[in-house]
Amino acid sequence: MSNPSSSYATKDIPSALDPSAFLLFTNGGKQARAALGAVLALNEASRPRIRVTVHSDSSAASLRAAFPALDPASILVGDTREISFQRTALAGGVTHVYHVGREFTPSEAVHAIDWIDNAKAAGTVRFFVYVGALHPFRRKMINHRIKLDVEEYLAEARLPYCVLQPADHMQNHDVEKAVETGELIQYYSVDELEAFFDIKDLGEVSVKVLKNPGEHDLARYELFGYAHTYREAAEILSRVAGKPVQARKIEREEALAMCTERAKSRAENEYYANGFAMMIAYNDRFGLLGNSNVSKWLLGREPTTWEEFCKRVLA
Ligand SMILES: NC(=O)c1ccc[n+]([C@@H]2O[C@H](COP(=O)([O-])OP(=O)(O)OC[C@H]3O[C@@H](n4cnc5c(N)ncnc54)[C@H](OP(=O)(O)O)[C@@H]3O)[C@@H](O)[C@H]2O)c1
Repeated sequence: MSNPSSSYATKDIPSALDPSAFLLFTNGGKQARAALGAVLALNEASRPRIRVTVHSDSSAASLRAAFPALDPASILVGDTREISFQRTALAGGVTHVYHVGREFTPSEAVHAIDWIDNAKAAGTVRFFVYVGALHPFRRKMINHRIKLDVEEYLAEARLPYCVLQPADHMQNHDVEKAVETGELIQYYSVDELEAFFDIKDLGEVSVKVLKNPGEHDLARYELFGYAHTYREAAEILSRVAGKPVQARKIEREEALAMCTERAKSRAENEYYANGFAMMIAYNDRFGLLGNSNVSKWLLGREPTTWEEFCKRVLA
């Protein structure tokens, strides 16, 4: 009798960075763009066929503007939560999937699980990359906890996979605005150590994983860069910009009002506002610390520092 485990515990997985491969990105958000940009930067000889699914015409327009090198025909617009749309997106010989979930939505795990099931059912998918978040076991943050369900399902799905767990992005901060206003604002403590990770590094790691899926099959990688307090981050930014920048914590009432406003402006529900508020409370109390050994090993260098990031943005 054949062992059902053997088919997904294998090094024999074709590279996604080959013209014979067909790579699907299930959204065109910030993290997917970091990976997509890194893939499009490769020379044409190693570029796979690409497809990106987005939920609206404006998302498609924004993606086309950001990536002129991306064939407009490779962008598929539809309801990315719909099973029939997912099946259409996976049809035609997709070999590799790069999935990032939508933030603060109660159905984040359900949709990821649907993508996994449909990827398996397509019959051509050889590797599934799931981008979750650092420390999904920090269950008090509902946006981390929900990713545990996806990871568990993926580990049991009998489909070759790799989980990337990035820490909070440096790109969450508007560095130019902070220099202009003289304030680096944050919704939580400016004295707790928080995570700073450059999503460009995520793009670089993604290329390595997609290039040699067999080496990374069944892995979960914590992608942490550096820990700084916002006070330190503001000092570093100030030095780079040559202008005074101070860290300022937004008052609790204002932060909570922002959670509701942010949810409303995106036509999201109370779950979104709650999720954001819980994350603020959590980071205020615990910060977010991790270890950068895995990032260093995967990158083959030190992760990008906050100082380097600020220099790059302000250049
Ligand atoms: N921000 C961080 O520091 C951080 C760190 C680690 C992990 N994460 C996780 O990363 C994930 C978000 O990824 P991201 O950073 O790439 O953020 P993002 O840019 O906000 O990605 C969210 C994606 O969801 C799409 N979307 C919005 N409304 C939708 C709808 N109704 N139906 C389908 N798709 C919709 C957005 O499309 P449009 O933009 O075109 O509307 C966007 O492509 C979340 O799961 C979050 O928990 C974030």
